[in-house]
Amino acid sequence: MKTDVKPVLLVAACALVDPDGRVLIAQRPEGKPLAGLWEFPGGKVEPGETPEQTVVREIEEELGLETKTACLAPLTFASHAYESFHLLMPLYVCRRFWGIAQPREGQAIKWVRPNRLRDYPMPPADDPLIPFLIDLL
Ligand code: C5P
Repeated sequence: MKTDVKPVLLVAACALVDPDGRVLIAQRPEGKPLAGLWEFPGGKVEPGETPEQTVVREIEEELGLETKTACLAPLTFASHAYESFHLLMPLYVCRRFWGIAQPREGQAIKWVRPNRLRDYPMPPADDPLIPFLIDLL
């Protein structure tokens, strides 16, 4: 049997949780793949980085928030076969961060109660993560 081996893309994402139990989602801007869909912030794991370091770097770059790898708790893992690559994406939860979230890359952001996350269309990799957040929060 011939198996279809696709390149693996490792992305790390984070559910930032505010003191009211709301989660931050960001809308992918025009010009990016999956533009208009809402996602948990994060990005590609660069060579030599751990996924936790990626999350710390990305939320600083994308949102101006500071956190530490020790403030991230792993929650679950997304695995989705897109047309041209296989996305693997650990999802962390972070309740300790510093600063006020400011979109720095032209993206819209929202703080949303977990049971309202389904109101915001998400990429197919992110969608299956929602029940884990509903159960946790
Ligand atoms: O964010 P970036 O475009 O670098 O991510 C690479 C790819 O990973 C996206 O094109 C998208 O297919 C996927 N992705 C995703 N969910 C995320 C982040 C990225 O499905 N939260």
